[in-house]
Amino acid sequence: MKLFSSVNDVTDLNALVAEALQLKQNPYAHQQLGKNKTLGLVFLNPSLRTRMSTQKAGLNLGMNVMVLNMDKEGWALELQDGAIMNGSTVEHIREAAAVMGQYADIIGVRSFPGLKDRNDDYSENIFNKFVKYCGVPVVSLESATRHPLQSLADLVTIEELKTKPSPKVVLTWAPHVKALPQAVPNSFAEWMCKADVDFTIAHPKGYELCTDFTQGATITNNQGEALAGADFIYVKNWSAYEPYGKVFGGNEDWMLTNAKLKNTNNAKVMHCLPVRRNLELSDEILDGENSIVIHEAGNRVWAAQAVLKRMLENL
Ligand code: CP
Repeated sequence: MKLFSSVNDVTDLNALVAEALQLKQNPYAHQQLGKNKTLGLVFLNPSLRTRMSTQKAGLNLGMNVMVLNMDKEGWALELQDGAIMNGSTVEHIREAAAVMGQYADIIGVRSFPGLKDRNDDYSENIFNKFVKYCGVPVVSLESATRHPLQSLADLVTIEELKTKPSPKVVLTWAPHVKALPQAVPNSFAEWMCKADVDFTIAHPKGYELCTDFTQGATITNNQGEALAGADFIYVKNWSAYEPYGKVFGGNEDWMLTNAKLKNTNNAKVMHCLPVRRNLELSDEILDGENSIVIHEAGNRVWAAQAVLKRMLENL
């Protein structure tokens, strides 16, 4: 594997999930694979889970790991080709990415969307420029439109905890005070559409996701109807795709509560984190026995380790 940016980069989904679960059982079995190899993790935006879990995954494989918080510690990057750099940017992404490729054998990049220009965000301008200019394998640490390491960890979690062959999985929109990217729900949807699950998306009118990511999903504006019989509920806020990046206010009643779990199959509740308590998810859910959010976050290590292992095997 030379690129991990979406589910489309995975040829054998079930095998990758199985590999992640094997690594969970035996984390240090492949320490020789990463010996004298360097993982460079570049963050243009904040992170807790992705930073620490991917770092740990690299260390488990015997790699050296370097982290650059580009937003705080790096030079201000110029992205525009042909730019006359007489403003605030100091280094062009062409040189920055190429230099990083001299220091690292595999590079991870986090680059959030601006949520202003949909065409620019959905072209994955920043992430693709890193891929183009760094010259080494690249793993997405969350890009403008996708968060594949999160989605792989989510699928690993569902595979690990499911009690039937094809569980009902519901992605439900949740309230928030800010406009958030569509990367996590886009990504979760496209992974679930390829997995062996019965997948439903519930959201208020106006929050339709780009249909490129939702092919095969059942989509409804009725949360109660969607939750009926659910085995797993994935809670997440996102802003509108059209008009792009907008939030409409209201819909506070979409927050998941214990009362809403009554009609489910004692559903396990997931969230990628960070989560705003009593806005996106209630205390009673997060502190209750149906929540698996910490378990899910723990699985981020094995998802990242499975991907890095495949990249190391291909160097
Ligand atoms: N879920 C997730 O990606 O968390 P971080 O933003 O903290 O990395």
